[in-house]
Amino acid sequence: MAIRNIRELGDEVLTKKCKMVTEMTPRNKELIEDMLETMYEAGGVGLAAPQVGVLKRIVVIDVTGEDPHILINPRIVESSGEQTGQEGCLSLPGKSGQVTRPNYVKAVALDVNMREFELEGTELLARAICHELDHLEGHMYVEKVEGPLQDVTEEEV
Ligand code: NI
Repeated sequence: MAIRNIRELGDEVLTKKCKMVTEMTPRNKELIEDMLETMYEAGGVGLAAPQVGVLKRIVVIDVTGEDPHILINPRIVESSGEQTGQEGCLSLPGKSGQVTRPNYVKAVALDVNMREFELEGTELLARAICHELDHLEGHMYVEKVEGPLQDVTEEEV
């Protein structure tokens, strides 16, 4: 496993749409392991492949530090409610901004064995799922921020 370099806002790779993953190759497995290690090392709660410069539809999320979720080709199939709160991103370290997200989301994704599963989340997990899926479309939370960015470190995803 290896720590990968996290791309920051302004890097073109963060504006591109990611490609579907069609098979679990050793290269993809290594990418996933590296993404988890890179996320934990950076103290984040989520990381999307484009943040390490890879345009594949893969995200890792762990909002508690002991419950890693690996989502391949994820899509949100259900969402409800609303939450407004501070959100940060490992690609914009040391900043946060207010973003409104659904308070509940259900995602369908493939796991490392390319088997479909569902992941339901509320509050921070719901926020992280939405945030990471935006990365796969080439979007950053700063496009949705309400008001100014602050020099506050929230959970970064
Ligand atoms: Ni992010």
